[in-house]
Amino acid sequence: MSIQAQIVVVGSINMDLVVKTPRIALEGETIIGDGFSTMPGGKGANQAVAASRLGAQVKMVGCVGDDRYGRELLAHFEEENIGTEYVTTISGQSTGVAMITVNESGENSIVVAPGANARMTPSYVREAENVIRSADMLLVQLEIPMDAVEEAVKVANRHRVPVILNPAPARQMSDVLLKQIDILTPNETEGKIIVTGRAESDASIGEVMSHLISRGVKRVVMTLGGEGAAYSESGAYRLMRAHKVETVDTTGAGDSFNAGLGVYLAEGGTLEEAVRFAQKAAALSVTNFGAQPSMPNRTKVNQFEYN
Ligand code: RIB
Repeated sequence: MSIQAQIVVVGSINMDLVVKTPRIALEGETIIGDGFSTMPGGKGANQAVAASRLGAQVKMVGCVGDDRYGRELLAHFEEENIGTEYVTTISGQSTGVAMITVNESGENSIVVAPGANARMTPSYVREAENVIRSADMLLVQLEIPMDAVEEAVKVANRHRVPVILNPAPARQMSDVLLKQIDILTPNETEGKIIVTGRAESDASIGEVMSHLISRGVKRVVMTLGGEGAAYSESGAYRLMRAHKVETVDTTGAGDSFNAGLGVYLAEGGTLEEAVRFAQKAAALSVTNFGAQPSMPNRTKVNQFEYN
């Protein structure tokens, strides 16, 4: 387990505009928040930063706009030792932003204006084929156009590079795509939306996971927030309980989890070990404010005691 994992992330890059609020505002309501922060975000970028801090060598494939946020985010990737050769600056386009409110219990509400992320194309992915080919793991999410996601997965499959697809935000996906996924990592709501089209569905965790496996996904790891994570292994489903921590902000917890899972598997760990490692990374990430500022490094995760 000493070889450094090579990870490529194909996904979104945002600037997060975050306000702390006593609670999430209702429709049509104005409430007064408490403190405003601007910090790097985006599910793809968050996973890249988390994987780098966990010890992987990471390359990012995505798009930013030709504006101040785009320049700041590119500089931030460099500080985090993330390769940016395949981050394209789209002229005349703004960088993606996420408007985030975080309430007193650490739960959030997020609205994303994709900006340059929406301009990600299959041809930008193909330009990165050489780095995808030499990676140990590809991480993808659904905050960029579906044809770019499909191309990234196709390229990885062509070179037998394992793929973790984090289906966030949830969208319908074709069976052709699902069959090419090694590990799908929905949360409970995303799993229900993918399977039934409805977040309010009463489908059980087991039913959602069985359905996804029946459609061709090789393995499913479903994150269950404070309850832990369920994962499929040899036709059975196992639940791993979450760590108990003081929750400050859950933003980016799923991204920490996906990065932890990807890094540990890429280093040769088993799925069970990787889920345990990912849970520790996610648990630590909710104990501080912000998505990327709270992503733990390898030492912190290794020292974190299971409770
Ligand atoms: O997963 C959290 C992320 O979702 C935020 O950083 C925000 O940018 C949105 O993409």
